[in-house]
Amino acid sequence: MAQKAAVESQKKMIDLISLCKRRGFIYQSADIYGGLQGVYDYGPLGVELKNNLKAAWWRTVVYERDDIEGLDASILTNRYVLRYSGHEATFADPLVDCRKCKARMRADHLVNGKCEKCGSNDLTEPRPFNMMFKTTVGPVVDEESYAYLRPETAQGIFTNFQNVIDSTARRLPFGIAQIGKAFRNEITPRNFIFRVREFEQMEIEFFVMPGTDEKWHKDWVEMRVDWWKKQGLAEENLELVHQKPEELAHYSKATVDILYRFPHGVEELEGIANRTDYDLGSHSKCQDELGLNAKVSNNEHSTAKLTIRDLATEKDLVPFVIEPSAGVDRGVLAVLTEAYTEEALDEGKTRIVLKLKPHLAPIKVAVIPLARNNEALVEKARSIKNMLQKLGVGRILLENSGNIGKSYRRHDEVGTPICVTVDFETIEGEGETVTIRDRDSMKQERISIADLSDYVRKFYL
Ligand code: GAP
Repeated sequence: MAQKAAVESQKKMIDLISLCKRRGFIYQSADIYGGLQGVYDYGPLGVELKNNLKAAWWRTVVYERDDIEGLDASILTNRYVLRYSGHEATFADPLVDCRKCKARMRADHLVNGKCEKCGSNDLTEPRPFNMMFKTTVGPVVDEESYAYLRPETAQGIFTNFQNVIDSTARRLPFGIAQIGKAFRNEITPRNFIFRVREFEQMEIEFFVMPGTDEKWHKDWVEMRVDWWKKQGLAEENLELVHQKPEELAHYSKATVDILYRFPHGVEELEGIANRTDYDLGSHSKCQDELGLNAKVSNNEHSTAKLTIRDLATEKDLVPFVIEPSAGVDRGVLAVLTEAYTEEALDEGKTRIVLKLKPHLAPIKVAVIPLARNNEALVEKARSIKNMLQKLGVGRILLENSGNIGKSYRRHDEVGTPICVTVDFETIEGEGETVTIRDRDSMKQERISIADLSDYVRKFYL
């Protein structure tokens, strides 16, 4: 039984990877040079899906709330930020080498203490491997010129804490949200876009009064699970896990992981940590050491005391922070996994359908002229595409590739919720009507072009 489930899961991952390449969602980066391990590119449909997921997150956490501001901080990070944050000292995975086949792997991923490539148990002792990517800044390359590609987007939020307060007059509780790239030199990237070396995060740092942190932590876990369900993830495929004390990151007092049933197993999709006052405290520490308002003579220390005024006591305090941190790429893999469906049709045929939530679908409507070489049909289809594009619901595609059956199959596979077909009745019949085909039910109905904009608007807004 367990073996059958494992084979099915493996098949699902292979099918998904194949669909992603075939239809232009995700490609191996630098494919023509043999690829770059742990790095992927998003194709024409992948970029739409990913942007839609990020836009849904931003809408929920920034636009639909009144207590969160947005930010877009730099990727290149001053090394002292990552020294004081604790990443230089502790952001490491345990690395072991196999003495027999020379493979390198994570000690905490070993099964029965054996090499994952050749099965030997002749392995070196684990040693810490720091996962941050270093680079140099400026024309002179020396020990003083290096910086890091950020390993999490969070630090840009902490270093801008004072700027945001000064420019928005925020009081506790409030948050700062950011979406952006992060980089980790993973020892063993694997499982398609699940564990990669370049990825995107959607992170919120939500600052609260010390003492209210545990309640906020609980609330944020609920809000985040709820959000993932709204992106189409089924409750039975989601799990919550409280990290054990020995698993906690150096900054965390408590972390709850939201796990998802990916094709390769149930693994972390998002982590929600109670980071306490660790980061703001650390970035203010040298000010404490040197004395508040001390003149700092070089760039090795932060110049800030990252506090906020408590209006009740008229005292400055370092707030606690709750951090919901989600991976965009893992989110894309999760919604693809959930949406991927093979349906049996008549005569032993199957159709592949991506049952994505409409707001995530890369193409919102495909407008298809029944015959590709008929100028009148194509012109009419183009004018309908232009009309619908103006609604601002997302990408509307003029699908002029010919065969109508193949066009439907293609749009089922990429998750297009609505196909609009322009046929001879559209241009010759009375009242200008088109056929609308629903992706999931495959039902078709005829509606007037005059009602089409309203139909599409209602479907998406
Ligand atoms: N700021 C907190 C933080 O970075 P994390 O648990 O290390 O916490 C947060 O990362 C999320 O980022 C994870 O839940 C995961 O979704 C995503 N993530 C982390 N490492 C990743 C990797 N190598 N590839 C893809 N996504 C990753």
